[in-house]
Amino acid sequence: MSRLKRADRPYDVVLFGATGFVGTLTAEYLAAHAPEGLRWAIAGRSEEKLHRLRERLPGGAGIGVLRADVADPASLRRLAEHARVVATTVGPYVTYGEELVAACADTGADYLDLTGEPEFVDLMYVRHDVRARETGARLVHACGFDSVPHDLGAYFTVRQLPEGVPLRVDGYVSVDAAFSGGTFASALNQFARGPRLAAAARDRRRHEPRLVGRRASAPPAGPRFAPEVGAWALPLPTIDPQIVRRSARALERYGPDFRYRHYAAVRRLPVALGGVAAVGALVVAAQVPPARRWLSGRLKPGEGPSAEKRARSWFSVRFVGEGGGRRVFTEVSGGDPGYGETAKMFAEAALCLALDDLPPAAGQLTTAVAMGDALIERLRAAGITFRVAARR
Ligand SMILES: NC(=O)c1ccc[n+]([C@@H]2O[C@H](COP(=O)([O-])OP(=O)(O)OC[C@H]3O[C@@H](n4cnc5c(N)ncnc54)[C@H](OP(=O)(O)O)[C@@H]3O)[C@@H](O)[C@H]2O)c1
Repeated sequence: MSRLKRADRPYDVVLFGATGFVGTLTAEYLAAHAPEGLRWAIAGRSEEKLHRLRERLPGGAGIGVLRADVADPASLRRLAEHARVVATTVGPYVTYGEELVAACADTGADYLDLTGEPEFVDLMYVRHDVRARETGARLVHACGFDSVPHDLGAYFTVRQLPEGVPLRVDGYVSVDAAFSGGTFASALNQFARGPRLAAAARDRRRHEPRLVGRRASAPPAGPRFAPEVGAWALPLPTIDPQIVRRSARALERYGPDFRYRHYAAVRRLPVALGGVAAVGALVVAAQVPPARRWLSGRLKPGEGPSAEKRARSWFSVRFVGEGGGRRVFTEVSGGDPGYGETAKMFAEAALCLALDDLPPAAGQLTTAVAMGDALIERLRAAGITFRVAARR
């Protein structure tokens, strides 16, 4: 189905899960920043909550309301048929997400989400990539702090280095922030699913075509002191390195042999060791159902850090890129990574898919492949920094 045909759908963008914590922030961002004439709607399972949200939004009368529930696949199909772009915050995605991906792939609607769950992304590739390519749907996962700054930051760094040579990029993440009930639930769910995650990754490898004549890797990175950023570099087993590697597989610009390593950067060793111990304890506790239930009760869905805490939060991802005898230091930085900036990245990615002139592509795509420069420009204009700190 051509993108032109989809132009006659009633909405350019539909935001599903608009009444949740990040969903509400995203709706507020869209209400404040969407260009005039954008046809958009909020969607969710409770019409009453949606109407209450719409009343609070500037220009609310012009915003559509659609009821849809993940337990009702027909409602998700209707939602996809009514939209050119569907943006969903309804997670954990491995539990709630598949029917909407299927509906978008089948009806040719573009789809984006906030998942950081590798198992979900791998399962969706195996089950829906082929159909999405047939209908022209772009399925773009991880459009929040997971993995926009890392994926677009690595892309931005590569663009500063020579073409046609082997490239090495290391990313160092620093954050000061708290998280919401939804994110905590997704993380616990993720920790409890280790074997299923590995099985989904194996299945994906069986389906994914081999990369011929080029290499793109993101090997596990060991802890070390990194003098180039003056901090302890700890392995950060998030979805981000996988996403960066997929961008490198898809785009020739990453060169004939690309390697990415992903770290948390921590200045003081005791803090670094404390962080490793805390994550380790959560992973162990998540394996034991009563402990997992007790932990889930600590932060309820819909709850999240206060506006004051979010205003004090920040992130910085520093990259060191090397190749062809050149070395470049770059940085992507901004405010509260989990919520304010995630809502901004998510909303701008939805607008980018709906409105910008982008490279032709369909199927499961990363943010760098689907939107690349256009999304970097949007995020810069919205106050997120992409900069070259030094060249050697
Ligand atoms: N990538 C990132 O960096 C990043 C950052 C933040 C969050 N996230 C992810 O984003 C997701 C949302 O986080 P959050 O903090 O906003 O969570 P949340 O506040 O719990 O919101 C979840 C949303 O899902 C909706 N929902 C739940 N069950 C549903 C159903 N059966 N049918 C339709 N809608 C349903 C909820 O609707 P109701 O309002 O009706 O309850 C709510 O709108 C999580 O998966 C989280 O991990 C990712």
